[in-house]
Amino acid sequence: MSSIISKPNVSLSPISTELGDEPNALGLLQRLKWRYATKKMDAARTVSTEKVERIVEAARLAPTSSGLQPFEIVVVTNSEVREKIKAIAWNQGQVTDCSHLLVFAAWDDYTADRINAMFDLTNEIRGFKNEGWENYRAMLLNSYPQRGAEVNFAHAARQAYIGLGAALIAAAHEEVDSVPMEGFDPAALDEILGLRARGLRSVALLPLGYRDAGGDWLVDLEKVRRPLDQFVTEV
Ligand SMILES: Cc1cc2nc3c(=O)[nH]c(=O)nc-3n(C[C@H](O)[C@H](O)[C@H](O)COP(=O)(O)O)c2cc1C
Repeated sequence: MSSIISKPNVSLSPISTELGDEPNALGLLQRLKWRYATKKMDAARTVSTEKVERIVEAARLAPTSSGLQPFEIVVVTNSEVREKIKAIAWNQGQVTDCSHLLVFAAWDDYTADRINAMFDLTNEIRGFKNEGWENYRAMLLNSYPQRGAEVNFAHAARQAYIGLGAALIAAAHEEVDSVPMEGFDPAALDEILGLRARGLRSVALLPLGYRDAGGDWLVDLEKVRRPLDQFVTEV
């Protein structure tokens, strides 16, 4: 069978972790190769407010199903709170060594109020009502709230992961280190941050900071990904 997989014009294997000065698309790939799941962060360094704001904005700009945007981000800088979170996050040091801990929290359910709020906001921002859009609203109102909270939370959590991905990439773009984390007890974190009272449940963490290269066992190890031909099929 002739290969229908187009050859990438960048070398993807082995993956170099050096930052190049190539422009645009390749520049982004270079930064994605540079980023890694940082195991040890330098507690003495702080990510600037401007960078954190741009990383959070990237998550806010992430697309979500029906545009419902069913997740929020809690930015935790308070060190006492981060100590508490570390204790229920497998004692992972990045939780306290980072300068900003992003907590991605998804809606616990899709309610009529929440659905209506997003459709009303759309109408307000765009300045008009559209029959097709209103029919779509009715369709969601007639299906989502009835599906049950667990199904809806699972759906909302998937949207939160899109935001997590966007934030990860934005952090790399800003040359800020990060590590996506599922290694924590979500119920305990919900309790610490009072999330359930706000109709939210924690989904993932993203500590933002700067690598402590000297103390990080992972920093110099080769990035491991399956080869492109085991990853992409073109039909
Ligand atoms: C959803 C998710 C959860 C993860 N949870 C943790 C975690 O709790 N602790 C950790 O050190 N790494 C965690 N990782 C990091 C992965 O192990 C890492 O991204 C993967 O091995 C690829 O390596 P790289 O990110 O360095 O390229 C998680 C990654 C993702 C995407």
